[in-house]
Amino acid sequence: MKFFIDTANLAQIKEANELGILDGVTTNPSLMAKEGIKGEQNIINHYKAICELVDGDISAEVLSTDFASMVEEGKKLAAIHPNIVVKVPMIKDGVKAIKWFTDNGIKTNCTLVFSAGQAILAAKAGAKYVSPFIGRIDDSGWEGTDLIAQIATIYAVQSFKTEILAASIRNVNHIIKCAELGADVCTSPLDSILGLLKHPLTDIGLAKFLEDAKKM
Ligand code: G3P
Repeated sequence: MKFFIDTANLAQIKEANELGILDGVTTNPSLMAKEGIKGEQNIINHYKAICELVDGDISAEVLSTDFASMVEEGKKLAAIHPNIVVKVPMIKDGVKAIKWFTDNGIKTNCTLVFSAGQAILAAKAGAKYVSPFIGRIDDSGWEGTDLIAQIATIYAVQSFKTEILAASIRNVNHIIKCAELGADVCTSPLDSILGLLKHPLTDIGLAKFLEDAKKM
């Protein structure tokens, strides 16, 4: 399973990248706004800065919702760097745009996916990634990781090439469950990635080893 970080914060991207296990980055308009990135040129510069930090796929989301504008916007985003993946919402024009990008050699990440039916459409349109939002499904009272399992089964049975990119990750258990269920990618906030390191018995064991090492 590939590890992406879900943030537009350069310091956090750098910290995760320095672990040596980072395969890519996902952003969205909310994450960009959180970093105070405003205006077309600043947005482009910020994506460039992310691409310079991490050697892997970097998702940059279109802000328009009609086919023609999404195509124009996506072309500009894709021109920033070969690693840019155009993130497109799962709406009717989005599906059309994903198919257009696929036919024109531009990688896409189909975002805001909450059902297996939507994931089938994304795969049919040729999206490189499909992003089911598992934390938000949990918030709505369903089990988000059940959707990962269902999409994984469908994609395997149908031999779809689209990679399952588990998004809206909220905790360590989400990451572990996604790995268990066969997600191709998990995009997580830094604290969830670092949370994987933690176990109290590791801390207790290390303290004892260091204490005993003094007697060596
Ligand atoms: O990148 C999209 C997704 O990961 C959003 O997560 O926590 O806002 O539901 P969240």
